Order: sequence, then structure tokens, then C-alpha cells
Amino acid sequence: MYLTRIEEKMFSGEYGEVVEKAIRVIVKVGEALGAERLVKISHAHISGVSYFNIGDEGLELLEGFSNRGAMVSIYTTANPYSFAGLGLYKDDELIRKQAKIIESLIRIGVDPNSFTCTPYKLRKPFVEEHLAWAESSAVIYANTIFGARTNREGGLIALMAALIGRTYYAGMHKLENRRASEIIVTLFDVDSILVASLLGLYIGRIVHDIPYIRARYRAENETMHDIMIRNTLASIATTSDLPMAVLEGVTPQSTYVMEKDETISVDMKELENIDIKCGSDVLLLGCPHITLDELEILLKDKQLNLLKKYGISKIIVTVPKYNEKSSEIFKLVQKVRERYSIEIQILPGACAVVSNLKALGFTAIATPHGKALHYLQNLAGAKPCAIHV
Ligand code: F3S
Repeated sequence: MYLTRIEEKMFSGEYGEVVEKAIRVIVKVGEALGAERLVKISHAHISGVSYFNIGDEGLELLEGFSNRGAMVSIYTTANPYSFAGLGLYKDDELIRKQAKIIESLIRIGVDPNSFTCTPYKLRKPFVEEHLAWAESSAVIYANTIFGARTNREGGLIALMAALIGRTYYAGMHKLENRRASEIIVTLFDVDSILVASLLGLYIGRIVHDIPYIRARYRAENETMHDIMIRNTLASIATTSDLPMAVLEGVTPQSTYVMEKDETISVDMKELENIDIKCGSDVLLLGCPHITLDELEILLKDKQLNLLKKYGISKIIVTVPKYNEKSSEIFKLVQKVRERYSIEIQILPGACAVVSNLKALGFTAIATPHGKALHYLQNLAGAKPCAIHV
């Protein structure tokens, strides 16, 4: 692989042991994928932040890096942590270990206000900007909506890329690999988060390449429209390994190549059965994360009346870390409690799917989010059921 003079110096250890290790990993992965050079990146996003996922080995690795003075060289954000990061378990050891993971990441230079799966809300990528992001739902959003360029990295590779400010130039970084072929046409209106999610889960199952999607999104406002699209994309990335889709009229045209292939029409009947008689009185919102502003728009009286009818008595909402302080939200929480007898619990910086929900007494959870519907049972130990919101 061709390396610049600075990269050569990194490779030979002139910038220290950590940088040397990081560039050697990136070069190795790049060579395996046929990359001939590295490319500078301006934002890395790290996943693998929950103690339930990375365990003692992951914690030791991150602590080792931070103890040796490792420091990211570009803007770096991190995914949400488990509910242990909010002290929700009785196990002190678990809480301590999750806190150490967060502390190590911050010491390495991760934005302490991030801890979200929607890093594009903190810093919006620009067209053709090179990134190294982990977190499948964020990767597909960056490539599809902004026309940015990132592969679907593993958490560790994203961390290494953050340390050297570069990644290997292959895959989604090259225009020739951003080919949309299968054309998906929906024969119905996408008018709720649940329908948007089910569509995404379905598309992810049937396509083999980057899909070109022609869908009619019908939302009451721009916020709902964006949440629906976020959920379609996150769901595609859940049932496939795709890093990108093309949304007609949304994805910047200069950022993909169109190849005519077959057209697949999708009828509502082909999506999974929608079980709106959900067997849980707890609703999860925020997978991917929603902001508190979005929550306010989401929980209008019409939706709250519907939730009441479904028997929901508690809503847990996962939001980005930077969203933890808001006086407005206290008013919303109070209003919902008084008028609808529904408790709202806001969980900043956290993710339900990477938490042990069973240990917290949750046996079933209602949610409109495709990614949560897919993973909750196996990863969090709570049975998910679909609900219209
Ligand atoms: Fe985000 Fe966790 Fe869902 S990382 S997309 S809230 S599974």
C-alpha cells in the first residue's frame, strides 16, 4: 500500500506505540480489501460501548489505550452505552465497569456530549466527506441522506481510524462501489414509524445490492418525515449488511451510480403482520435515538390518546447524551403523567438493546422501531411487540 511520508512515520513508530498499532491495523484491513492507499477522514464514530457487549476484554483494551495517553486526532463520537451507565442496576460492579468504559473513551478524546447513534445530529456530514463510522443505522444514514462516504466499520476499526485520522480507501469511499441496482417501488403510503420500519426490515431481507427506493412518505410534519426515513434506513441495515440505500429525490445524485436492474413492487401485505394488540404496557421510543424536541412533536394529544387506548402506562425514551437537560421536557413529562397517567422516563446517552432489560424486570416491550423489534429478544432479553405510534 502506498503511504505518504507522515503515514510512513506513523507506521514506523515515530508517533508512538499506539499510533503505530492503529495504522498497522488499518493498513492490514485495507490491504485485505484491495485498498491502494489511505484517505483522510474528518469524523469517526465508535460503537461497542456497552459493558454487556464488550465485557472485561473490551474494557481492558480501552483502559489500556487511555492509560498510554492515546488521543484521537479528529472529531470523534461514540454510540450509546447500556442502562448501567445511568446507574439503573443494583450491581455496583457493573455500574463501575460501564462508567470506566465511558471515562476511558472521554480520556481518549471522544466528545463527552455524544453517546448517541445519531452522531449526524451533533455534526452534520457534508456531501462526499470521508468518515469512518461504526453503528449500522448511522452509516446508512450518512451515505444515503448526506452523500457522505463511510464503510460500515467495526467499533475497533473506527477507533483505530480516529487515532490516525485516516482509513483505508476502499468500499464506499469510491464512487464506483456506490451502485444502486434493484429498484424498490412501494404501492402504499408510508405513514407511521412502524410502517417505515417494517418496510426497511422487508427491503433488507430481499435485496442483494444497494436498493433504489421510490416510496411515498406521508408525514404530518418534517420531523415525523425524518424519523420515518431514519427508521426505514436503520431497519434496512438491521436485516442486511448494506451500508447505503438510494432514496429517490433525497440521496444526492452525484454520490451514486445508477445501474438498471429489476423493479420490485412492494405491497403492504408483504410486510410482517402488525400486532397492534401489544402485550406490554411499556413503550420504547428512540431506536435510533430521537431528540427531546422530536419527542415533543411525537407525543401530541392524538398519539397519547392512542397509547392510552393500547394500555401503555410507561414510556422509556432513549435520547442523545447532550439532550439530558431541558426544562421544557419536564413540563411534557408532567402533562403526560397528569392527563394520561403515563410515566415518561428519559434515558440520555443510553440504548435499550445493549442493556439487560430482563434484569431490570422488563419481560415485554412495545415499540414501533424496526431495529428494536429485531434485536430486543436476543440481545436485551425482553419480548418485543409492534405498536403504531
Ligand atoms: Fe441506537 Fe441502540 Fe437502536 S444504538 S439504533 S438505540 S439499538
